[in-house]
Amino acid sequence: MTLAALGGAPLFDNDRHGKWPQVTDADKRAVMDVLDRAILSGSDAPAARAFQDDFARLHGAKFALLTHSGTSALQVAVGALGIGEGDEVIVPAYSFVATAIAVMQQGAVPVFVDVLPETGNMDPSKIEAAISPRTKAIMPVHVHGCPADLGAIGAIAKKHGLFLIEDAAQAHLATYEGKPVGTFGTGAGFSLQSSKNLSAGEGGLYVTNDEALLERANQVRNFSQNLVRADSAHYDARRNLDGHKALVSLGIGSMYRGNEMMAAFGRSQLARLPELTKKAQDNGHRLAKALRELPGVLPPSIPSDRTTVFHKYRVWLDGAAAGVDLSPTQLRDATIKALRAEGCEVVMWQGEALPSHPLFSELKGFGKGFPFTSSDVERLRANYHASYPVTRRLIDSSLVLFSQTCPLIGQSAETVDLYADAFRKVWGDRKRLVEIAKG
Ligand SMILES: Cc1ncc(COP(=O)(O)O)c(C=O)c1O
Repeated sequence: MTLAALGGAPLFDNDRHGKWPQVTDADKRAVMDVLDRAILSGSDAPAARAFQDDFARLHGAKFALLTHSGTSALQVAVGALGIGEGDEVIVPAYSFVATAIAVMQQGAVPVFVDVLPETGNMDPSKIEAAISPRTKAIMPVHVHGCPADLGAIGAIAKKHGLFLIEDAAQAHLATYEGKPVGTFGTGAGFSLQSSKNLSAGEGGLYVTNDEALLERANQVRNFSQNLVRADSAHYDARRNLDGHKALVSLGIGSMYRGNEMMAAFGRSQLARLPELTKKAQDNGHRLAKALRELPGVLPPSIPSDRTTVFHKYRVWLDGAAAGVDLSPTQLRDATIKALRAEGCEVVMWQGEALPSHPLFSELKGFGKGFPFTSSDVERLRANYHASYPVTRRLIDSSLVLFSQTCPLIGQSAETVDLYADAFRKVWGDRKRLVEIAKG
């Protein structure tokens, strides 16, 4: 069979993908119930409250707070700890930019470390060299839904008296040593953006076991106003939104609350999350088994003390092992082209290490250099201009199967099997990737 990229017939119709999120009648009813009740917002409104409780319970956490995005969930995590101007937070060079921006929005600065090739997660062995007297926290990211090495990173945080904040934006229900991520440090941020395994269109959840932090996070979420309490046991639908007293702001905060429609929708989706996560895991492992048979194709590698939820499905390519005479980026791009032509969704996700975004490499910050100028700017410049060879190699030598619109979790086993078939077809003719690369 000729490769579709070279004029053959595609293996399957791209339209067969399941779209994400899957919206059920129960989801629609949940949102309609909110509209019927006509309570649409409020820091302690009933749908948000119910969603927070269910999410916290499912993740083995004491508390959760709804925010309007995963980024704001991370930001309240940073703000609740009092981290701000002049402080540093260690983050991985490989992530979505929101990880670092959440730190900057509070006036602190990110300091980057390289990642591990196997998982793309923060490399614990690089952390200590990045610690300075200004460092306040370490924020690992559970990239693609696979937990970071929380044992090693937690031990370093403890040794140096640093906070551990988890960026769990992609990792709902992923586990480390049998326990769901989110409560290994002082707090965590999850995202509910539409591609995520748990989606509310947009949205986020801050999670913590510490009641004092919950209260502070809730203030950051509400303009740092006094008297806004996260404890909503006394919600009263008859009370007007103004409350009984004009509030004052005790510091910088913003409006990071979610609304009732997203809460009701997210909660309804949450009821199916364990079952869908299991399906994603079964499919992910099945696809890995098939891909492992192909020389030079390396499916996600999951350490034995963790479970991944396969939010993204990264596959490494090794041209030498495959016997294809192309550079890593040529091989990656030609494979992406060939697989897309067969009907697959294939993306890169990130194209650059975070420090090389102009925001960091040119120290742009808020425009006049803040917050970098409030820190040790020369040290930061060196950190942002350093090389992150594993991150670079990871980006150059791998691709991500499925997409934000059609993530793995939304696909049937049959569609996932077609990805294995498409890879087999392309790999069966892999010498011709050279033509595609040059074409
Ligand atoms: C690793 C990571 N952190 C943070 C975020 C931010 O989440 P949101 O888009 O909901 O603000 C994302 C979302 O894509 C992410 O992938």
